[in-house]
Formats: sequence, C-alpha cells, structure tokens
Amino acid sequence: MKIINICGARPNFMKIAPLMAAYKSYPQIQPILVHTGQHYDEKMSDLFFRQLKIPAPDLNLEVGSASHAVQTARIMEKFEPIVLEHKPDYVLVVGDVNSTIACALVASKLGVRVIHVKAGLRSFDRTMPEEINRILTDSISDLLFVSERSGIENLRREGVPEDRMFFVGNVMIDTLMSHIETARTLDVLTAYRLEPRGFGLVTMHRPANVDAPEKFRSILQALGQISQTIPLLFAIHPRTRKNIETFGLGDILTRYPGIRLVEPFGYLEFLNLMSNAAVVLTDSGGMQEETTILGTPCLTLRENTERPATISHGTNRLVMPDGAAILKAWQELQNSPPCTSLKPDLWDGRAAGRIVKYIVEHFEKR
Ligand code: UD1
Repeated sequence: MKIINICGARPNFMKIAPLMAAYKSYPQIQPILVHTGQHYDEKMSDLFFRQLKIPAPDLNLEVGSASHAVQTARIMEKFEPIVLEHKPDYVLVVGDVNSTIACALVASKLGVRVIHVKAGLRSFDRTMPEEINRILTDSISDLLFVSERSGIENLRREGVPEDRMFFVGNVMIDTLMSHIETARTLDVLTAYRLEPRGFGLVTMHRPANVDAPEKFRSILQALGQISQTIPLLFAIHPRTRKNIETFGLGDILTRYPGIRLVEPFGYLEFLNLMSNAAVVLTDSGGMQEETTILGTPCLTLRENTERPATISHGTNRLVMPDGAAILKAWQELQNSPPCTSLKPDLWDGRAAGRIVKYIVEHFEKR
C-alpha cells in the first residue's frame, strides 16, 4: 500500500510529522514523502524536519516562491510525473496551502484517491487564498479527516457523503503533546531578558494584514502602544519583514523599542515562548489551536476564524485588525480573569493513529 505524502510550507510540517511516525506501526504501508519546496529557508523548513524528526523527503520539487498561479502550476507540473511513476494508492495532503490544492488536483485527475487531513475548516471568507484551497481540496478528496466538529457540519452542508468524513481530532496537537516537555526544558527567555508571563508574542503574515500599508501601519502602532506596558517579541515572517521595508514602516519600530523584531524560531523554541507568554497576538491558524491547549490567551487579528472551537473551547478571541480594536481588546484582556480552556474534543495527542487506522481499513475494504 503506497501513500504519497505532501508537505510544502511551514505549517504543514507539524501536521505531517505524527503521520509519518504513525505509519511505522503498519509494515504494509510504504510512505513516500514529497516536499514541494514552497518554503525553503533553513528557518522555515529544514529546522522543522530536524526538530520534529521527520524523515528526509524522498523527493523535493524545489518550486520556491512565486505568484499563486505560478507556484500552484509549478507544483502540479512537477508532481504529475511523480504520481505517474510511483502509481500510489493514495495521495495525502494536509492543511490549506498552495501545495495542498496543487497535489490534490494532480492526484484526482489521475484517478488516485486523495486524503485530506484537517478537512472541513471554513472561514467563509473567500478573499483568503487558504479558503479557496480548502473548499477545492475538500471537494475532490475521497477521505476527509476533520479536526473539530464544525468541520463535519461544514462538509455536510457542502454535500460530502457521510462515509467519506471522519472526526479524528487534531494532528497539530499530537505534535504539540509529544514535544512540549522537551520544549519546556529549553531556556529561550534569558537571551531576550524576558520573564515567564511577562511578555507578549507576536506573529503576522496574512496578506490581508501585511500587504495593505495603512492597515499594517495601524496594527504596528497599536503593538507599539502595547509594548509600552509589556515587551513584545515579534517573530517576523519573511514576507512581513519585506513589507516593513517596502512600506517604510521602520520608523514605528524605532519609536517603540519595546517591540523586538526577531527571526522566525524553530518549533521547540516557539512552543516554549507560546507556553510562557502572557498573551499571543497573531493572524496564524495553527497558533490559535496551540494556545488553546497551552492555556495562553490569544488575540487573533482577523475578522473571522475557520477554527471556532478555539473560541468556544479555548483561549482565543477574534479582534478586528485595526489599531483601536487591538488596544481595546488588550485593555479588556488585562481586566479579565485568567483564561480557562475546555479543550476541544479529541485534541488528545492521538489523531494520527486514528487517521492511519481508518486509511488501512479503507484500503482493505476496496
Ligand atoms: C504560506 C501559506 C499560508 C501559511 C503560511 C505560513 C499559501 C497560499 N499560503 O503563506 O497559508 O499560513 O505559508 O508561513 O500557501 N519566503 C521566504 N522564505 C521561505 C518562504 C517564503 O523568504 O522559505 C518569502 C518569499 O518572499 C515569498 C513570501 O515569503 O514570496 C511568501 O511565501 P508563500 O509561501 O508564497 O506564502 P506565505 O505568506 O508564507
């Protein structure tokens, strides 16, 4: 039984790691790992392979950065001959990045069954490139593995047959649970002169926030004001750093030395920081989930989320990404009782094992 597994961008690596580990319990499975090369910097890719002990990819398509159309097309062009050569029983894709839809589309057109892990999530905001990737990938997937109950409702609404969808929990949390102890033994705070629960952790990379100069300026100004109360460690994504330079926003950072711009961290260092932070301010999808399990308050600088369980069962709060709303949310948070998290169903560290078991059963029934 041959499964080609796809990863391409940073958030894919935490999802693929527990699946590659779970395959080891099934000698009948021959997994092939393909890295599309969507992310390629040491700190956006290789470091994660080492820390999460993901086996080296069998193939790297080395597509690199480009516009959405060009990147997606390049992945498709390079992936098609691989499917033709290896004739897999399944192609497994994770998440919602361009690599996800590109490889799902190639497999589906060649008549190979597609497995989607983290299916069913919907922000209902079609201006997000990821939402388009999610809807399209789910519509051509044969096995859809869902991480939170809202995903099952979304897929039903879209007419996905019941026997294709499986509520299995969250592979991101598998990875978190198997690494949190190691992460906690690291000393990340001293180098930045930070105290546990005495700093905020910031990340931002969504085009909606960082590609619009005025909006980005207003967000940075609010962060500057918050940094006068509490130091902010801003782990900066390459596209965000580029835009600070392009839009000439460096003056805000000079004015507010409490915002400390730092390079992206490895998974373990970042987990340590998330678990020690007083607050996380982000537009990331995965961090909404991780802070929910860590019990760290999370202000998500977005108008919507495809992960509503992180609000109903977690520590997450949506905040309109503009200066005034961010400051108001920060004030409210300071006056709120400590966050308590109920933990969403099946976020128990065992999702990958369930997924692989279902795949094996599906294969045997064919
Ligand atoms: C991609 C995903 C997004 C995910 C994010 C996590 C899509 C549509 N978007 O967005 O869902 O949340 O990854 O990071 O797939 N760059 C580098 N080095 C790298 C990778 C990128 O410098 O290793 C720079 C390049 O200038 C590139 C830009 O970052 O143009 C954006 O990279 P890209 O993969 O196109 O999108 P992300 O914003 O990272």
